[in-house]
Amino acid sequence: MFRKRSYSLVMTGILMGMIVLLMMFGSRLFLDIDEEPRVEEEKRIVVGVSQLGSESGWRTANTESVQNAFTTQNGYFLIFNNARQKQENQLKAIRSFISQRVDYIIFSPVVETGWETVLQEAKEAGIPVILMDRNVDVDDQSLFATCVGSDFVAEGEKAGRWLEKELRKRGYAEERVNIVMLMGTEGSSSQIGRTTGFTSVASEHESWHILDKECADFTSIKGKEVMRDFLRKYQDIDVVVSQNDDMTFGAIEAIRESGRTVGVGGDIVILSFDAVRNALEMVASGDINVDIECNPNQGEYLLRVIDMLEAGEQVERRYYVEEDIFTIENVTQELLQERTY
Ligand code: AHR
Repeated sequence: MFRKRSYSLVMTGILMGMIVLLMMFGSRLFLDIDEEPRVEEEKRIVVGVSQLGSESGWRTANTESVQNAFTTQNGYFLIFNNARQKQENQLKAIRSFISQRVDYIIFSPVVETGWETVLQEAKEAGIPVILMDRNVDVDDQSLFATCVGSDFVAEGEKAGRWLEKELRKRGYAEERVNIVMLMGTEGSSSQIGRTTGFTSVASEHESWHILDKECADFTSIKGKEVMRDFLRKYQDIDVVVSQNDDMTFGAIEAIRESGRTVGVGGDIVILSFDAVRNALEMVASGDINVDIECNPNQGEYLLRVIDMLEAGEQVERRYYVEEDIFTIENVTQELLQERTY
């Protein structure tokens, strides 16, 4: 009896010991295999991100890039807010980041103006602000640390230079060309920059006539509406310059419904911006003539900038992301397969 009890006591002890050992080392083992080492909670860098909305495929990709960058594995605690296209929501979000005393504020300004007061508040609270994608129009440049985004004027110029070359190739360099422009959110950096870039090239060509330009808010629905109006007003449109892919999708629908054709060999030449996968497929099939890339993968760039700021290094005023131009000649199947957005 005694022997039996002591035997079962020994067995229980061994079992308990195994459980304790499993809890001590087993969990570490699982952690090492399944997860990257986590940064202790109190050492994480707290980042407040105010995204301007979710108007386009590009914007969704930009949001994903930020969310994939500022992860706990990378040592961050991300507070993310979607402003649904309203500046007042962005102002509210930034103020709430200030009151939560985040370490950095990142935001993509819906329009360029109207940010002085809130940026001053962030500065007084000692919180560095990093602009993402778009710029702000402020006199005091110390109100933000740096800006990661696209060179929108260069994008607009690229579109203009492509059209110049294309018309020359077709032997139309001196002929009258009627152009309409679908523009993004009025007052946004992408709208201002792309318009400036394209119209500066257009001004070098007496034969180019910009018949009209209208805001279609970077959305497909508005793109279709505005394009429909243009088609009613003007019978002889040769070229559409659409400042993002979503508006292009809507515009192409409207053009087809009017009985006209688009793209390579079609009635109307289509110039678009962004180069999201769906649009690149349309470049490959010849429906869009050219797509000027706007790179939404800005998360990695932002991580690098914060690393530099954490190390006390000097950062540049602006960091431009890498961008390309796509036509039927260089959109390959591999490119389409690799495109994550
Ligand atoms: O600011 C970048 C622009 O904003 C992209 O071209 C557009 O798709 C987005 O909504």
